[in-house]
Amino acid sequence: MSASPLVFSDQDLQDCNTLGLPARAAVAVLDDESSIPALCAALAASAGTAAAAPLFVLGGGSNLVMAARPRHRILRVALRGIRLWDETPGHWVVEAAAGESWHGFVDHCLTQGWPGLENLALIPGTVGAAPVQNIGAYGLELDQRLHSVVAWDLRAGRVRELHPRECGFAYRDSMFKRDGAGRWLIVRVRFMLPKDWTPRLDYPDLRDHPGLGGGRGASGLAGPGHRTAAGPTPRQIFDAVCDIRRRKLPDPAVLGNAGSFFKNPVVDAGQAAVLQQRFPDLRGYPQADGRVKLAAGWLIEQAGWKGRRLGPVGMHRTQALVLVNHGGAQAADVQALARAVRADVQERFGVDLEQEPVLLD
Ligand code: EPU
Repeated sequence: MSASPLVFSDQDLQDCNTLGLPARAAVAVLDDESSIPALCAALAASAGTAAAAPLFVLGGGSNLVMAARPRHRILRVALRGIRLWDETPGHWVVEAAAGESWHGFVDHCLTQGWPGLENLALIPGTVGAAPVQNIGAYGLELDQRLHSVVAWDLRAGRVRELHPRECGFAYRDSMFKRDGAGRWLIVRVRFMLPKDWTPRLDYPDLRDHPGLGGGRGASGLAGPGHRTAAGPTPRQIFDAVCDIRRRKLPDPAVLGNAGSFFKNPVVDAGQAAVLQQRFPDLRGYPQADGRVKLAAGWLIEQAGWKGRRLGPVGMHRTQALVLVNHGGAQAADVQALARAVRADVQERFGVDLEQEPVLLD
């Protein structure tokens, strides 16, 4: 059976980015892996010519600031399917296609009795985008559960199976992100889900959640906190994470946003100590390498931006790290606010914030 060729056509993309920015571009939808070799051939044939508009691989558009008329051609990944790919004495290895909804996939795994991803519930976006920014929340990062990523190297025109060591993972970062959104086309992602599951309750908000029997004496910065004997079930953790996120974070379907707009900055121990002295309430998490990850939301709030607007955009009223579109914003409005927030945090704390969402121009 021959694959249907990918056809690019001019399309509206406002509903394809969670900030809800108006945009139009040439878009093709990838719903069949067998179309990829022809895509690679077409890319190789047009490389270096004037006709070679760069390609941008789009998942759920939840980590994106889209310009109104990006010069990129957009490949929307709509590959579907979830299966138990392998089973070892210690693990279920579950494979999901890149176009699956991340949250739907986490939910499905729990329903099947494959726990381990529940701390990452309700993160917007697709399975294929998850390794790109190495999604993480509530004490778990994706790379801790990853088996492998099946991805096409569009430049080389071949498919690779990449194991975590080859993906260059770091906090909110990976080789896929560093290499740019036109090099790698992730088609499937495999996860190692442990049969001897234990709850991950390191994160204070989660440990203290009433739905998990928390709130009794747990406090302070992150530290070991697994509750094992008769502890909560994976589904209870999933529900608690959903509850925390729903209370703190705006729903992109209601108020456009791209989640955390900046990374939490990691500073060296000396700088953290100086800041701690000047600002005793500073929120920070010691890292394994001795550095300290500061809570960007706290820095932004202290700089006076929590709930404050600049034109049609603003920083959210319950989580200052989230930039929201109050309606009618363009990419330039978003970037103007981002610059203003960065400048104020730099002036007050001497700390540089790094934008997390990718600018698609
Ligand atoms: N804080 C403030 N003011 C604010 C926001 C936060 O003082 O306006 C303080 C909180 O009180 C807390 C600390 O900052 O002491 C950390 O806040 P929170 O628990 O909300 O987490 P975060 O560090 O702001 C990170 C991720 C989130 C993830 C949560 C939970 C990044 C960039 N963001 O946020 O990810 O859900 O931890 O693990 O690492 C996302 O990427 O879209 C996202 C929501």
